[in-house]
Amino acid sequence: MKPMKVGLLGIGTVGSGTYEVLNRNQEEIERRAGRHIHIAMVADLDTTRAKSLVSSDCVVVSDAKEVIAHPDIDIVVELIGGYGIAFELVMAAIESGKHVVTANKALLAMHGTEIFEAAHRKGVMVAFEASVAGGIPIIKALREGLTANRIEWIAGIINGTTNFILSQMREKNWSFQQALEAAQALGYAEADPTFDIEGIDAAHKASIMAAIAFGIQIPFQKAYVEGITQLQSQDIRFAEQLGYRIKLLGIAKQTQAGIELRIHPCLVPSKSIIANVEGAMNAVMVQADAVGTTLYYGKGAGGEPTASAIIADLVDITRLHSADPLNRVPFLAYQPQSMRDLAILPVDQIVTAYYLRLGVADQAGVLASVTGLLAEFSISIDAMLQQPSHAKEERTELIILTHQCLESSMNAALKKIQALPTVIEPIVRIRKEELI
Ligand code: HSE
Repeated sequence: MKPMKVGLLGIGTVGSGTYEVLNRNQEEIERRAGRHIHIAMVADLDTTRAKSLVSSDCVVVSDAKEVIAHPDIDIVVELIGGYGIAFELVMAAIESGKHVVTANKALLAMHGTEIFEAAHRKGVMVAFEASVAGGIPIIKALREGLTANRIEWIAGIINGTTNFILSQMREKNWSFQQALEAAQALGYAEADPTFDIEGIDAAHKASIMAAIAFGIQIPFQKAYVEGITQLQSQDIRFAEQLGYRIKLLGIAKQTQAGIELRIHPCLVPSKSIIANVEGAMNAVMVQADAVGTTLYYGKGAGGEPTASAIIADLVDITRLHSADPLNRVPFLAYQPQSMRDLAILPVDQIVTAYYLRLGVADQAGVLASVTGLLAEFSISIDAMLQQPSHAKEERTELIILTHQCLESSMNAALKKIQALPTVIEPIVRIRKEELI
């Protein structure tokens, strides 16, 4: 059978990883795919570098449109990133009848609906395993492996840069800034790390998982997103004393009231497996009704881990491209006509537990007034910690863990607590999940 011909748009770290792994494991991959998969064209602005990475049977061009227009190319792999030119090229590839593989979570979060509609119309496949958690086959697991289940929630450490920063803050007692600089020095964080540290990258990925888990369009615009820039190392220490670690989690949860989709720093029990996912590693926990809890762990970025996911998509497309489009796995797990329009809850309607740190005057009755106001809003306390104040200090720190409550109740309680004259500093509030 003639080889499946692939064109890469971009040959940076992931592109060259894909080229390398495909060549190295060619025989195994062909035995699985049933057909040879050949990267026949590469488009990259730096053609000299690109030519140095590929062999003579691969044509290197500077214009991505040449790859898209070439009649021999069956699959276009978009590795440009962003949602400007990458969107135009993906739509052009679909219009030319090419299948598309992409690792571009930002593109799918912003334009997934248009891309999938266009692909559906043209009868081509768009595969995106590498877009969430790099090498971890989480899209495959959610879309196919767990297809018998009603998925209840997903909680993921899906940004390696922020997980590395949080690990360094905890292990070395560093400030956020110190840990960020270390992440940049090691090449984890970009020179402009905004998307990582502000939680936007994790929001892209959590939104894609939410769509597949619940059969909804990718709800990125409605996600609640809070990054880690405001996190202080003292809260990491206090959390640890109470038996918790702080992770940036992407959470998608199906509740009676609607879908919670939130990305924020979160206390998780130190003994839980997910709390022990350290450094730049990723992990995704999925709670589903039949199977219970499953956990997926691995490298969320890097050339070869991401190539692993991209090549898995190339193999899927190679196996399925001659199948009737109606018999292929739907892009977002559910048949297009069976997608739902479920409400994404505003953040004040979520239900979660909290860690609170209050800088208060060290006076009689302060604790009673704080706990009294929590009780007024039916917020139950789970644990408390008060640091002994030094002899001459007139302030002390109260750390309170609460049970679950509606976020709007917590907001109302905190407004009143903050207004107490004895609460002398802005209250720190971090959400907490037991993940059971
Ligand atoms: N910036 C991402 C991370 C890379 O740190 O996880 C993979 O999407």
